[in-house]
Amino acid sequence: FSPVGKVQSVSTMADGDENLGSVKQILEMLFAQSIRLTVPDETEVAPIITPCKDLRHGDYQCNNAMSLFARIRGRVPQYSNPPSVGQAIMNNIPTSEIIESSRIAGPGYVNVVLSRKWMAKRIHKMLKDGIETWAPKLPVKRAVVDFSSPNIAKEMHVGHLRSTIIGDTLARMLEFSNVEVLRRNHVGDWGTQFGMLIEYLFETFPDWEVASGQAISDLEAFYKASKQRFDADPEFKERAQQAVVSLQGGEERYRKAWAQICEISRKEFKKVYERLGVHLEEKGESFYNPFIPKALDLLNKEGLIEESEGARVIFVEGISRPLIVVKKDGGYNYASTDLTALWYRLNEEKAEWIIYVTDVGQREHFEMFFTAAKRAGWLPAEADKYPKVNHVGFGLVLGEDGKRFRTRSSEVVKLVDLLDEAKNRCKTALIERGKDKEWTEEELEQTAEAVGYGAVKYADLKNNRLTNYTFNFDQMLNDKGNTAVYLLYAHARICSIIRKSGKEIEELKRVGTVALEHPDERVLGLHLLQFPEVVEEACTNLLPNVLCEYLYNLSEDFTRFYTNCQVVGSAEETSRLLLCEATAVVMRKCFHLLGITPVYKI
Ligand code: ARG
Repeated sequence: FSPVGKVQSVSTMADGDENLGSVKQILEMLFAQSIRLTVPDETEVAPIITPCKDLRHGDYQCNNAMSLFARIRGRVPQYSNPPSVGQAIMNNIPTSEIIESSRIAGPGYVNVVLSRKWMAKRIHKMLKDGIETWAPKLPVKRAVVDFSSPNIAKEMHVGHLRSTIIGDTLARMLEFSNVEVLRRNHVGDWGTQFGMLIEYLFETFPDWEVASGQAISDLEAFYKASKQRFDADPEFKERAQQAVVSLQGGEERYRKAWAQICEISRKEFKKVYERLGVHLEEKGESFYNPFIPKALDLLNKEGLIEESEGARVIFVEGISRPLIVVKKDGGYNYASTDLTALWYRLNEEKAEWIIYVTDVGQREHFEMFFTAAKRAGWLPAEADKYPKVNHVGFGLVLGEDGKRFRTRSSEVVKLVDLLDEAKNRCKTALIERGKDKEWTEEELEQTAEAVGYGAVKYADLKNNRLTNYTFNFDQMLNDKGNTAVYLLYAHARICSIIRKSGKEIEELKRVGTVALEHPDERVLGLHLLQFPEVVEEACTNLLPNVLCEYLYNLSEDFTRFYTNCQVVGSAEETSRLLLCEATAVVMRKCFHLLGITPVYKI
């Protein structure tokens, strides 16, 4: 057991090989060289490369001239204004097969047009070598994503659904980027509520040991009933508090009852995870319990822990309320567990990036214990250094009435019911289109599931996660507009274009080539090439909506291409079929990263 002494700094990799890295990274490399030649005395000038908003100006631009001029002003006489710096940067770009032409615009932007030939070659190469060769490179080897994390004995609610969906996507993006991800379900399986539950179980179901499953068929109702008893009867309350002590002391009978209650909850959670196809490893709050005294001891040695009104607390700059780590009664809490879990993840699991996905309401809790960990030297003070922690907050799920999403009887909505409804609505829609006559029952079921669950996930992910979003079946299941239904159908249509051509795509990959002669082919091609940098952005900024937006625009670019360029039967058939295939491959990878199962026919 040792404190985290050193803080590693992991630098971003610059890759020499042009076949590796995104287009943006390759351009950054070229412009870094050019900037070095332009202003040899200036060190540490990071190239600023962005895609052009208006493709008529170019594909990418370098935006360094203005800030660079401000920096060297008066010191380097040959540069009299920002455009002259821009001009020099442009002249100094090393020759490469990537850039077709470049020119100066406005106050010194260097606009770059990529070579069509190079773009086409790169797409063809991806088709041959696989989309994995387009995986972003991140400066971390192992990460923890702490997500879903419902509380035992309480219903998993839509907030946990958001956490599950967002967390799974982030984990998938990291995994695609070759980061080892520890997918942690930090379930609330410890705490004072268990005294009350166990005591109630003993009281109402004396034969609980053989039949607890029947005793607690509805865990939520059981929770409510025991809470009522707890609030109404002081004598029961007393016994419940005593039960907590017995449980924490490790008394066999109490341990066993606790384990059974957890098991019942776990089965319920599992149903949701199975439907969503989400994989998680449970390490609940109880897991960290034995480590708490040692972790607090380390913080104490750093002089962080103080006495305040009978509790042991950590004061955090800028926040008047302290972080309580030992309660008045000597018990531990959410914060002591989280600090300990952080210690464990850094030291035992050697995670370099730890990501927590919960509603924004918990932001202060995370900020406080992150700050404490920084003060203790467990984490570097700088936010961009590793090991790094991030709280990924999200807004509320609202109902049609603009209030918190509830059922009519104002109960918490059961997630399983929600997912079932999405699927059933999709099934009905498919039957209306006569698919029950065309397909096997299994195909019908699988498609309804893929589309229904996909729609729920996409409706959540496409918004900036910080905003509240309104849950609306009609909207998310619409087959037009920015929905999973529309996107899944678009993908299926591309697959059917390829199928109906009667051509063997593997053969085309081998003998054919990709060309991007038509303007709409080129726009589509450029969009395809931007996939790696978009995943990287979504991943580093922890924003799945960036990937959703990319996917939606991809399908729009494809539609424009398909409307304006004849595919089957044209002189460019081979190249265009390959472009269809590349689009389908990238779309499928997007679906995969968003946790959506693609469909191939519709
Ligand atoms: N159980 C908590 C809740 O339902 C979420 C836990 C999030 N993870 C953590 N390490 N605090 O709100």
